[in-house]
Amino acid sequence: MTQKKRIVIIGATSAIATHCARLWVQTAAVDLVLVGRDLPRLERVAQDLKARSADSTVQTLTSSFTDARAIQVLVTELAAQQVIDVALIAHGSLGDQTESQNDLQRCQQELETNGVSPVLFAEAFAQVMAEADYGTLAVIGSVAGDRGRKSNYVYGAAKGLVARYVQGLQHRFADTNVKVVLIKPGPTETPMTAALTANGAKMASVQEVAQGIVAAIEKGAPVAYVPGKWWLIMMVIRHLPIFIFNKLNI
Ligand SMILES: NC(=O)c1ccc[n+]([C@@H]2O[C@H](COP(=O)([O-])OP(=O)(O)OC[C@H]3O[C@@H](n4cnc5c(N)ncnc54)[C@H](OP(=O)(O)O)[C@@H]3O)[C@@H](O)[C@H]2O)c1
Repeated sequence: MTQKKRIVIIGATSAIATHCARLWVQTAAVDLVLVGRDLPRLERVAQDLKARSADSTVQTLTSSFTDARAIQVLVTELAAQQVIDVALIAHGSLGDQTESQNDLQRCQQELETNGVSPVLFAEAFAQVMAEADYGTLAVIGSVAGDRGRKSNYVYGAAKGLVARYVQGLQHRFADTNVKVVLIKPGPTETPMTAALTANGAKMASVQEVAQGIVAAIEKGAPVAYVPGKWWLIMMVIRHLPIFIFNKLNI
């Protein structure tokens, strides 16, 4: 009997992460570890997944998302229990840009939730995967990290930090058996974007985005825009000369 894949999801109550987990349990029985900050919410996700795959195991754990020491202990203990095949770091918050501009504490919170926290988890997984010389580490960034824009530059800067960090990890692990994947979703219909959807913004479905993420992790692709059209859109946006870019209301 082949051993089940062990997949750890940080921010496992995220709609995108939940749909990735559904795809994983649908394909094969897996050992899932769901990490979040709210146990009842994690338990609801776990029950849904168990109902979809009786042969999968689903463990739930809460953790601090800001305390570096707690993050290190959590990941080290998980790796000591059993080898980790895949770690997906998914948590994030799309705070209001104007509020972040006007309130430095909100700004700090946004930078920590979307930038520092995912990076601390990534470093913790990098350490244990380096030791095992094995594993795939996937981190959800965003197209918003590709170029600073007035509508969301605090969130975008945090995602930009994640992107640069992952780039460094990819360089570090280039000649090893550890793969590091950066996911860059475009706007996706989830609770995070409910207010934007209510205002009529066009979004990708969470199912489509999850499919793209699971496929990118399977391939070990270094960078995955999901849906793929965002690669082209962001290539154009990144390369627009500043005198044109600054005239755009984006
Ligand atoms: N939806 C989009 O359009 C879009 C586009 C690009 C990138 N992304 C990224 O995709 C990832 C998943 O987002 P989603 O769309 O699935 O959003 P979601 O359903 O709203 O999930 C957000 C997740 O982040 C967690 N979270 C929020 N604030 C947190 C904090 N301060 N500390 C710890 N955890 C916190 C939430 O935990 P609780 O359940 O405990 O609240 C939840 O697990 C995020 O990294 C997001 O930035 C989303």
